[in-house]
Amino acid sequence: PTAHLTIDPAFSIAPVNRRTFGTFVEHMGRCVYTGIYEPGHATADEDGFRKDVLELTRELGASVVRYPGGNFVSGYRWEDGVGPRDARPRRLDLAWHSVETNEFGLDEFMRWCAKAGVEPMMALNLGTRGVQEALDLLEYTNHPDGTALSELRAQHGASPYGVKLWCLGNELDGPWQVGHKTPTEYGRLAAETARAMRMVEPDLQLVACGSSSSKMPLFGTWERDVLRETYEFVDYISCHAYYGNDDGDTASFLASAVDMDHFIDSVTATADHVGAELKSRKRIGISFDEWNVWYGDRSRRTDGPADAWEVAPRRIEDEYNVTDAVVVGNLLISLLRHSDRVAVACLAQLANVIAPIMTDPGGAAWRQPIFHPFAITSRLAAGQVLRVETDSPTVTTLKHGEVTAVDAIATYEEGRLALFVVNRSTDGPIEITVDLSRTGVNSVDEAVIIHDTDPLATNSAAAPDRVTAQPFDSAQLVDGKLTITLPAISWSALSLS
Ligand code: AHR
Repeated sequence: PTAHLTIDPAFSIAPVNRRTFGTFVEHMGRCVYTGIYEPGHATADEDGFRKDVLELTRELGASVVRYPGGNFVSGYRWEDGVGPRDARPRRLDLAWHSVETNEFGLDEFMRWCAKAGVEPMMALNLGTRGVQEALDLLEYTNHPDGTALSELRAQHGASPYGVKLWCLGNELDGPWQVGHKTPTEYGRLAAETARAMRMVEPDLQLVACGSSSSKMPLFGTWERDVLRETYEFVDYISCHAYYGNDDGDTASFLASAVDMDHFIDSVTATADHVGAELKSRKRIGISFDEWNVWYGDRSRRTDGPADAWEVAPRRIEDEYNVTDAVVVGNLLISLLRHSDRVAVACLAQLANVIAPIMTDPGGAAWRQPIFHPFAITSRLAAGQVLRVETDSPTVTTLKHGEVTAVDAIATYEEGRLALFVVNRSTDGPIEITVDLSRTGVNSVDEAVIIHDTDPLATNSAAAPDRVTAQPFDSAQLVDGKLTITLPAISWSALSLS
């Protein structure tokens, strides 16, 4: 089979948004403790941050990091995590049935962000708390000086952090959420919180909670009702999506990006509908602040006991394989394709918990297969995102109907083109020709592929580089025509100039 792609710098969607390459640190399982933070570890720095994980975070190319949850935030008191460590309380964390020591809190996170070179994105507790606590946290985090909480921060040795991006709660449509609400209850609280926060800092960028998945019973209605309350006070509405291959339907799993495309289009349409009702010209963006592959099937992961109140027990430590990496690469293609509306996106999570980076307590850190498509896309995507005109054979899937086997996106900046392309069929190779005649490029500077004769191959502490991106030497560029042959279940990235 063959496919044909056409790329033209005139097919511009929007500039590449660096915040597309966000990730997420939640107080959950071992993401913080023995993930990013482990005093006593051989690589720990003076703050107790694992330098091996810091280095991998920089290599991942993460731009923004959401914190501290997730479901955790809906029962969290941020004050517990600041000030002298020995006075910080131990608390029950109802979300993950564990004990939170509060050894790591806001000031540690901000120091870690500075070292990792990432922008913090803070989530507020709108489950058990409300407007006043949000204002207190904003004052502690950003206010320069001369007030009780800004002086408290100064006593803790910290300057204002200038955090601009704030999530107004987390997944409050979910009955599992502490402080779960109806859309109107949540919409009112989010609107009042946002309005008050803007009285302090008008230029904050605020995210209202959308549905916790597009499968939720209220999906569509929730977004509409929340935005009817919050439209004029917020910038973004959130999307969360996790994809798995639990039922062995690999064809559908490989086409997960079709679902992500549809999800983004549906939320955008709903937001625009509310905008039309309100006769507003303002456009609400999408903060896709949780996305990844996540297996419901527990045989694919390590979990600690759910009923014991432990500190940092293992939680959803999914082990990813080559097929998962191809899907993650394709989900990034979907996010880039929607750069005109997706303002923020966060791969959930960063370390150990459904994560690109794994660690052993006291031991090694390594890259899961999904690390690679993320790091490469973040490194190569630059300039304008270009729509790729795609003529491809199709694959019939149970969950998404007939979909193109080949999916692609390109970016273009000053004569440099990056192409990200996936063969999501399970059947065999596809020869792809790409018309690049209008881009002016004439050399392939870099070409890599993620593919393996064993699509279930994984990495581990013992074999950390079993799955990596390999040089891809089949690419040929002659007279503005690129030819590549992509094997089944593969993702590839090319940089051309
Ligand atoms: O990322 C894991 C969990 O998934 C988050 O805490 C929650 O927001 C979502 O349901």
